[in-house]
Amino acid sequence: MTDFTGKSVLLTGAAGGIGQAMAEAFAQSGARVALVDRADCTERAKRLVGQGHTSWQCDLSDPAAISATIPKIGKALGIDILINNAGLGVVAPAEEQTVDLWDITHAINLRAPWLVARAALPYLKSSGAGRIVNMASQAALVAIPEHAAYGASKAGLIALTKVLAVEWAQYGITVNAISPTVVETPMALVGWSGEKGEQAKRDIPVGRFARPSEISAAAMYLCSGQAGIINGENLVADGGYTIR
Ligand SMILES: NC(=O)c1ccc[n+]([C@@H]2O[C@H](COP(=O)([O-])OP(=O)(O)OC[C@H]3O[C@@H](n4cnc5c(N)ncnc54)[C@H](O)[C@@H]3O)[C@@H](O)[C@H]2O)c1
Repeated sequence: MTDFTGKSVLLTGAAGGIGQAMAEAFAQSGARVALVDRADCTERAKRLVGQGHTSWQCDLSDPAAISATIPKIGKALGIDILINNAGLGVVAPAEEQTVDLWDITHAINLRAPWLVARAALPYLKSSGAGRIVNMASQAALVAIPEHAAYGASKAGLIALTKVLAVEWAQYGITVNAISPTVVETPMALVGWSGEKGEQAKRDIPVGRFARPSEISAAAMYLCSGQAGIINGENLVADGGYTIR
């Protein structure tokens, strides 16, 4: 769709379902991808099309690990594009959610994107046309039962997106979010299977969940040269679920 030859992409949550689609799509479009996850992505990096893809193991809930890892990636490869995709989606009724669950959800879904973006900023500035995409969720926009911590963290991420977009536009950097409906990844389909999943699909006007490739296509568009005027936006990729 877009040529990213010569661009370096820092992708968090690269071991996950959407991360796989994003890594493959950017690699096929010529980018070098730095795959960041707490899981080891070495094998995944080797399977990508092209040269120069690397795996970086990092626990994004740990600020010290972020401070240690991101500059290493920046110095080794540069950073033109940052995709804050790692996320934690544990669901439970609000009265049963624990402080620990709340804190870890916010540490990974909200604090980490800020810290990673801050650590990547010098390299994004050097890029001259830096791009940041934050993976939010439809759960940030409408009430979904059992998503108290998750929805709050993703709503915070959209707010963070807007502030960074305003502050960093002067450096040629755009910052946008994507808010998908359920995306057909192995993890998501565990929670949205059976009648619960079928009902959820009926509630989406297009009658189906999103495909990982549709989310990576949205990210690639936001990271492309054609999208330079789009800044601070939340691209809702939900088949129309939240407009009802
Ligand atoms: N799949 C969906 O239905 C859906 C819908 C809306 C939004 N999202 C968001 O999209 C993103 C990707 O979702 P996915 O379905 O691919 O999820 P996934 O669970 O398959 O992948 C998430 C990845 O994040 C990594 N991760 C989690 N905690 C980490 C930590 N502390 N340090 C480093 N890495 C960590 C995991 O190891 C995993 O590889 C998430 O932010 C998620 O909230 C997903």
